[in-house]
Amino acid sequence: MKSIVLSAVGEPSEVLKCIDKSIPEPGRGQVRVRMIASPINPSDLMLTRGRYMVKPEVGSSLGYEGVGVVEKVGPGLLGKYMAGKRVAVLNAAGGNWSEYAVLPANRVVPVPSDLPDEQVASFFVNPATVLCMVREVLGVRRGDWLLNNAAGSSLGKMIIKLGKRDGFKTLNIVRREALIPELKALGADEVVVEGRESLAELVSGIVGKSGLKHAIDPVAGASGSAVFESLASDGHMLVYGTLSSDPLTISPRSLISGKRIEGFYLGHYMQRRPMWKNLLLFKEISRLIRAGVLDTPPGPRFTLDQIAQAVVAAEASGKGGKVLLTIS
Ligand SMILES: NC(=O)c1ccc[n+]([C@@H]2O[C@H](COP(=O)([O-])OP(=O)(O)OC[C@H]3O[C@@H](n4cnc5c(N)ncnc54)[C@H](OP(=O)(O)O)[C@@H]3O)[C@@H](O)[C@H]2O)c1
Repeated sequence: MKSIVLSAVGEPSEVLKCIDKSIPEPGRGQVRVRMIASPINPSDLMLTRGRYMVKPEVGSSLGYEGVGVVEKVGPGLLGKYMAGKRVAVLNAAGGNWSEYAVLPANRVVPVPSDLPDEQVASFFVNPATVLCMVREVLGVRRGDWLLNNAAGSSLGKMIIKLGKRDGFKTLNIVRREALIPELKALGADEVVVEGRESLAELVSGIVGKSGLKHAIDPVAGASGSAVFESLASDGHMLVYGTLSSDPLTISPRSLISGKRIEGFYLGHYMQRRPMWKNLLLFKEISRLIRAGVLDTPPGPRFTLDQIAQAVVAAEASGKGGKVLLTIS
């Protein structure tokens, strides 16, 4: 089978190689999935560069999420239940950028047949992060303002649409003016281009006296630091990405005054939740993808052989939507 492997830690377009491998066999409690498609997410590329939560292993296969069909199962009841089903493939060990992936049966999720493959490919990482951060950790309520940094990302657009659905207001920050009409059309309440004026002044002009209670930031660096300073004294910010690769600079006075800042990582968050809660989460994600709230904007498609072009496209500014590897 064809599989994308890491030949060294470094620039994705140089170190990711498409090679031939033998097709893996599922062991006890495992399933083998014939992969249909898998997205290229920022986490895949951070891992390749050695800047992710886990250290990359040279020779390992990549790809954390995707869609496929369970084709063969090892001994075990859950695997038998999954046999033949189309599933979202939540591959915590990576390896979905391959024609076949073997993983534990409890890491595949059967999905309703009306959801298209390209949506099931991105079923989990961004939609689950959006719901857990907004509804569970921050507890954003109807009428509240939420500041959404890097709002033009796939995840940022989901936040805007969830705001329309749940009745909270979004103050969105982008780095390119060209994104404003698109985000407004999705339902953004306010969109501002970063770096033009003091963010704190802009925020207080928009949000008013009550101040900004909630913010989410995947950028860090100067941009994320300005977001933190624009919070009200009882505000709460979640940092969920490192797009700028720069550290945050935060005034200790802001912390002493009561502002809170916290990291969010879906991998750790999900481990702490009971299975029944995760099953409800998967149901809610299906419902909201169908409703056009947590759907992923489609971007360019590539085959496994085209991995070098695909990873460049995945980080191109203005790519429009999620880059997808189409596998079978
Ligand atoms: N912590 C978690 O568990 C978790 C889970 C899911 C996602 N995430 C994070 O969420 C973020 C968005 O993911 P995604 O899949 O939605 O990404 P995506 O669709 O690939 O979009 C990336 C966006 O980031 C913007 N961007 C890139 N570098 C930037 C910078 N230095 N400053 C400001 N904006 C920048 C791009 O803006 P342009 O359009 O202007 O190029 C683009 O809109 C990523 O950081 C990802 O790692 C974290």
